[in-house]
Amino acid sequence: MRRPALILGTVALTVVAVVLVVLVLRDPPAPTPTASANVQPTPSVTPVVPTELSTVLTTDFDDPEQDAAGWEPLGEGVEALRSEEVPHTGTGSLLVTGRSAPWNGAQVDVTGLVSPGIQHTVAAWVRLGQGGGDDPGAVRSGTVRMTLQRTGDAEQFWHVADARATADGWTELTGTVTLPADTTDGQWRLYLESADTLADLRLDEVRVSRPTPPVQTEIASLAGSIDVPIGTAVAEQDLSGRPAELLLRHFDQLTAENAMKPSVVQPTEGQFDFGPMDTILDFAVAHGLAVHGHTLVWHRSTPDWFFTDPDGRPLTADPADQQLLRDRMRAQMQAIAEHLTERYGAANPVNSWDVVNEALDPGEGDGLRHSRWYDVLGPTYIGTAFDTARAVFGPDVTLVLNDYDTDAPDRRRALSSLLSTLIADGVPIDAVGHQMHLRVGSSVAQVDATLDAVADLGLRQAITELDVALTAPDQQLDTVTADQLTAQGTLVRQLVETFLAHDPEFISVWGLYDTRTWLRSWPRDRPLEAPLLFDDDLQAKPAYQGFLAALTS
Ligand code: XIL
Repeated sequence: MRRPALILGTVALTVVAVVLVVLVLRDPPAPTPTASANVQPTPSVTPVVPTELSTVLTTDFDDPEQDAAGWEPLGEGVEALRSEEVPHTGTGSLLVTGRSAPWNGAQVDVTGLVSPGIQHTVAAWVRLGQGGGDDPGAVRSGTVRMTLQRTGDAEQFWHVADARATADGWTELTGTVTLPADTTDGQWRLYLESADTLADLRLDEVRVSRPTPPVQTEIASLAGSIDVPIGTAVAEQDLSGRPAELLLRHFDQLTAENAMKPSVVQPTEGQFDFGPMDTILDFAVAHGLAVHGHTLVWHRSTPDWFFTDPDGRPLTADPADQQLLRDRMRAQMQAIAEHLTERYGAANPVNSWDVVNEALDPGEGDGLRHSRWYDVLGPTYIGTAFDTARAVFGPDVTLVLNDYDTDAPDRRRALSSLLSTLIADGVPIDAVGHQMHLRVGSSVAQVDATLDAVADLGLRQAITELDVALTAPDQQLDTVTADQLTAQGTLVRQLVETFLAHDPEFISVWGLYDTRTWLRSWPRDRPLEAPLLFDDDLQAKPAYQGFLAALTS
């Protein structure tokens, strides 16, 4: 099999020294962070040091589905909403309105992303909006500032960066802050405020990065240990620096975490944006990695326009509406297929596609999710999607039906029944994708039973989105113990052994290292959740050891 090539030369990012005043508050007085009143200045200038940085938070406000992407208003009567007016780049930025004090702004929870004893770099673009001056024609400007705060009993504030912003264009705000090693860990937030103006604030392209220790080179490559592709979900931030080094050392297949979803590829009907997808596919081609396409037909991450007519009327099960929706399904697939052929030709790395994602709902009489696809087209939308994908992508691409919790008995029954129908109808489905978002305590026997059931139907199988959470979504995790990580490693080993016993097409994990897991923000904030193989510092966890042990046993 292909051995992943190591990145030749890592990207050394130079941290530009900025005029930075690190201000530390020792005694917390007022609950509201009026920066000038509450913070004792302790000037220090950050030295210029070449550092290997990893991005731990990146927000561009471009995805309408993510709204304000976790940013919340700060202050009474303040609103912080995604806006499509004058973005710095892309299609959106954050607009903060209703400010009545300079400290009013917007905030985001960064607990689990920042740590004591480490230098963090914060960069963002800012601009003023309406208000903040009586003369609407005057050039308005004001000082806008980013602050990192430890919240709770021992509040502390660090002003990370400030800049003079105007209403006429965007200004970059950048700075670094080293949180003292003796800072107690806890809840953290990053917020935007001003020092003077009360004008509306705009924010775009926020990025927080921190140095990462070197990637371990003495441990075995996962992908290099077996002749089954080992994949991971990625976003652009994983494709440079040390994350990329880790990726190329252990994985030989990628899934775009979001970049190939319909809402990204075709946000408006007929207007395709292949940029985010190309970034990932270019990387895959450059390094000889395979790509699993995710996803074509889904109830989420699909723009509303798919299901409304040009006048905004919701589509119904009327034959003309049905045809319109089938045409749109085909147009989406066709545009992607043509783009792949045009850009990559024979080197197209996309070998498989999640054609339909999350079609099951055991709560319904027919076991199928009654999504907008289902409402308009009925249960046959699934067969139509596979027929169309086969016609558009050709016979060599593996067509996958992907779903979650397939190990649960009721979902296993719904899956088996759907598959039997699809097979009887001659639908060109090649494989079942099991997402496998599991947790410590999940039953390996149930997973085994599901893999057996699908094998009995003669279909191939893939593990598409493995992660093993330490807690259930409604449990609070205050600290992660060594015992929990060991239990996770043991379960990962048993799971991977079970997967391998069923001859999977590939095994993919849903994220490269713990900082990057979607479970830290879904279905609610779980800042300490750690469901992946590598920790926040990109170092191997017992879960990696368990995975490797299964591959080599
Ligand atoms: C998740 C991504 O990880 C998040 O970044 C995004 O905000 C929501 O979607 N099942 C799937 C994936 O099929 O597409 C989901 O990915 C995780 C659950």
